[in-house]
Amino acid sequence: MNPHASAPASSLTPGPELSKLPERLARREATVGIIGLGYVGLPLAMAFCEEGVRVIGIDVSPRKIATLNAGKSDVEDIPSAQVAKHIDSKRFLVSADFAALAAADTISICVPTPLSKSRDPDMSYIVSALESILPHMRKGQLLVLESTTYPGTTREVMLPRIEERGFKVGVDVGLAFSPERIDPGNKKYGVRNTPKVVGGCTPFATEASGALYGLVCDHVVRVDGADTAEIVKLLENTFRAVNIGLVNEIAIVCAKLGIDVWQVVEAAATKPFGFMPFYPGPGLGGHCIPIDPLYLSWKLRTLNYNVRFIELADEVNRSMPDHVVTRVTDVLNERGKAVKGSRILLVGMAYKGGVGDLRESPALDVAEKLLDRGATLAFRDDHVGKVVLEHSGRELSRAEGWNGGFDLAVILTAHPGTDYRGLLETVPDILDTRNALRGQSGRAAVHRL
Ligand SMILES: NC(=O)c1ccc[n+]([C@@H]2O[C@H](COP(=O)([O-])OP(=O)(O)OC[C@H]3O[C@@H](n4cnc5c(N)ncnc54)[C@H](O)[C@@H]3O)[C@@H](O)[C@H]2O)c1
Repeated sequence: MNPHASAPASSLTPGPELSKLPERLARREATVGIIGLGYVGLPLAMAFCEEGVRVIGIDVSPRKIATLNAGKSDVEDIPSAQVAKHIDSKRFLVSADFAALAAADTISICVPTPLSKSRDPDMSYIVSALESILPHMRKGQLLVLESTTYPGTTREVMLPRIEERGFKVGVDVGLAFSPERIDPGNKKYGVRNTPKVVGGCTPFATEASGALYGLVCDHVVRVDGADTAEIVKLLENTFRAVNIGLVNEIAIVCAKLGIDVWQVVEAAATKPFGFMPFYPGPGLGGHCIPIDPLYLSWKLRTLNYNVRFIELADEVNRSMPDHVVTRVTDVLNERGKAVKGSRILLVGMAYKGGVGDLRESPALDVAEKLLDRGATLAFRDDHVGKVVLEHSGRELSRAEGWNGGFDLAVILTAHPGTDYRGLLETVPDILDTRNALRGQSGRAAVHRL
């Protein structure tokens, strides 16, 4: 019988293999395993390699493995030369074969956590990654989940599956959660200078994860458990979703009152305390902010509690593409035109400036709605090669210049450094949903959100 079977997590002491881990990490002898080499996993892998730590990267995508093994990066913030350097030196081993993990001392899981069709948490990637890891797991390893998820996942989804395999969590292997905070395209904050929160299923796992991430992060924040670490991330993203929802609603209010919302936010932001500016836009996009808060509201629904702020923010943010379409209709109306038959240029399709990521981009919703109303669309986005609309499968044509005989341009995402002068001179009307044209003028009439 396992003597630790009913011991509280805080009283578990690591077995001989696991207890050596912090020292191996401190001496940089440990090998780090990373599962899922996307926007999160690849920068993390590179950060460890840069610190001289050997990394085993695992991904299920054969295309991803081939790209990385050819020394090429498919993540915008990571230069190919960096990948090539670490592949060539064999510090970065990339494989689709989970058996390679037998040599890893730590395993960080960075796989997707999307929503299912019914907008509930989709745990399938986490479960599938874990099921692939388990046959190769050995005593002494530390497993850290980094994928954003609802509080309780590490303890309720991961821990029992590991223990079913005969490993006692906290004794044979360590288990922790550490939320990922990477902000793709952010030139100021990266892995090194973004504090990393860690919370283990046992105090030892918290310490060991702190030692792991302390190799690549200047500041590690230890919290008292995996559940706490899980909800920290959801608070951060709910904070953003709710505040963006608030300012989007203020944008709708200002449109009704004939007031420029941008002036309002910028003037309010001059208050040196008690106000933090958030900016309106055509809706919420990306893989995190529109999705993560719904993980929390789902969890609370299982406890018969309705997280009202999250539901309301989601409702307001998801209504913004409709507001954009209403504004497009208003602007065309003023010229005696209908949406049907108008030629409209969509400027910026990615979910935010500086990246080419189309996931959940509200620009896609705006495009679907305008096509449904009979508009003829083209797009411009220097970061995006091709736009295929997810729901209808329709592909948008790419405009090579500004001058395509358009009736209207709608700026949906403002990429830094975009020169809008040509646009201001060639299109009669521009609906600027991002305040990208602040302080600029030309022949075009510029309309606000
Ligand atoms: N992208 C961000 O800005 C960001 C920021 C913070 C947190 N997160 C969270 O981090 C997690 C990962 O997000 P991402 O943006 O890196 O996703 P991504 O889609 O860019 O990358 C995920 C990778 O995991 C691989 N994968 C899928 N299933 C796998 C499996 N079973 N085994 C091994 N590999 C598998 C995919 O092929 C892909 O390469 C998500 O939970 C996300 O919410 C993302």
